[in-house]
Parts: sequence; C-alpha cells; structure tokens
Amino acid sequence: MAHTLFLTILLFFVGTTVSGQRCNCNYISHPQTRFCQAHFAFRGSILNAEKAALPGDRDRGYLYNQNLRYNVSVDEIFKGEMTYMTEHVVSLFTPTGGICGKPGLLQSQKEDNSENDFLFTGDIAVTSQGYKYLVITNCNWVARWEDLTKEQQEGLNGFYSDCGCEIYPRSEALDLGDTDADNFQVEDCGFNPISASILKVTDCETNFGHCMEDEDQVCSWVSSPTFAECFASRKSRLLLGAAAVTTRKGCNIYTGKQRKKCLLKVMKANRL
Ligand SMILES: *[C@@H]1O[C@H](CO)[C@@H](O)[C@H](O)[C@H]1NC(C)=O
Repeated sequence: MAHTLFLTILLFFVGTTVSGQRCNCNYISHPQTRFCQAHFAFRGSILNAEKAALPGDRDRGYLYNQNLRYNVSVDEIFKGEMTYMTEHVVSLFTPTGGICGKPGLLQSQKEDNSENDFLFTGDIAVTSQGYKYLVITNCNWVARWEDLTKEQQEGLNGFYSDCGCEIYPRSEALDLGDTDADNFQVEDCGFNPISASILKVTDCETNFGHCMEDEDQVCSWVSSPTFAECFASRKSRLLLGAAAVTTRKGCNIYTGKQRKKCLLKVMKANRL
C-alpha cells in the first residue's frame, strides 16, 4: 500500500493577526495536539465578562478596549505555570471581533442555562514590560466539560501530557488504499475526522484516543478497551460498506430486518 502517512495535511488554514497574536488555526487538530500546543489548560467556571484592553494596551485609551476579559474561577489545573493559576480567579483575554475571538461564552452559557463548567486551554502572552497574561482564541480548545468524553477528561489528567508524537490529520480525499477502512489506521497516529463524518462513523481517535511512543520510538494509538472496540467496530462496518450507505437505494444491499433498519438510519441521517 502506498504509504503517504508522513504527509501532514493541514486543512483549512486560517491566518489572522489579532492584537499582534498570530492566529494560525489548524481546525483539524487532535485534542492531544491542542493540549500539547497550549501554554495552559484548566477546568473552571466563568464569573463575569467585560470589555477591556489587553494589559499592554491599558494606558493607550478606550480605542484599545477591543478585547473581552473573562474572570474565571479555576477548579482544576492540567497544565500551566502554577504562579498564574494558583490565584484561584484568573482573567482570560480574547479579542471581541474576528475569527480569533471567543466572545460568546458567557452569553451562551446563560442562554443554555447549562453547567458553568468549562475546559479552557490557551496561550500565555507577554507585554513589552514583561507582564504575563492569559489569552484564548478560536484556535484554542475550549469546551463544556460535560461535552468531553471520559477518555478526553482522562487525557487532560495525564495521557495527553505525552507530547513526543505528532498526530497527523488526514483528509478524506487522501486515498490510502482500496477500502474506506484504510482511511483509518493505528500506526503513526493518523486520524481522519472528515472521513469519519462523511462516512458517518465514529471518530474514535478524537473521542477516545491518545497517541504514545513505544520503546522502539514508534508512535501509535494506545489500545484502551474503548478505543479498541470503537476501532474494530468501525473497521468492520467500513469493510462491509454499511457505513457508506447514504441513500435509500443503498439499503438494497440488505434484506428483511436489516434493510428496514438501514432505511430508518438513512431517514434519520437525512433529517439531521
Ligand atoms: C476581573 O478581575 C480583575 C482582576 O482581579 C478585576 O480588576 C476586574 O474588576 C474583574 N472584573 C469584573 C467584571 O469583576
């Protein structure tokens, strides 16, 4: 099989400069990569938000009030310079406009009336006077804690700290072999969220996977029970072709009960 595995496909590159911060978002990046690239990661709840200038721009007038400052109480630290986190309440800055901002967090939290319990990852920026402050942009992994899988929560608590491996995002267009299953492989820690979404199968790597190097310096997905089960069931579905069925007509490969089930799934999928 042609191994194009060492290709790193950086899809949907967006480059925007906001407040001197380069915001190169590779939207397709694995949680472990996002954790490894972040300067800090913690779990916390938003206390309030207000328009504010970045610390370095503080004395330059209201025109620089182009950022939002979230005051967040820190509940659990996963990564970061302790001195900035132990204060219990920290301020996170984010540009209010542009693709890099995270302006809607408090609002959506209030509207959804959901648990005020978030994962924040982001960067530590430094003013010209050497003052450090925390920044979050759309490039950073920020999510409701309840939306994380158990494996992602465990990853934050330890597994993701293994940053020696590169995790390669692959595109669906990159045909790795004869079957759809070839788009997903355990070796070299590739993952393929686009294929997973198009073929309507689980993105096992994002949801349940973490990548580790073995004694021979070979990186591969760690075969936890959940991951192994997900991987195996996806593979068998893809080899059977079942997951690729997207039309009613496609269900004709089945008969009886299975065909009915298939039709129901297609109907459901089309409603989404
Ligand atoms: C957020 O925290 C900062 C620093 O402690 C404080 O100066 C600011 O007034 C706080 N913002 C709000 C809206 O409470």
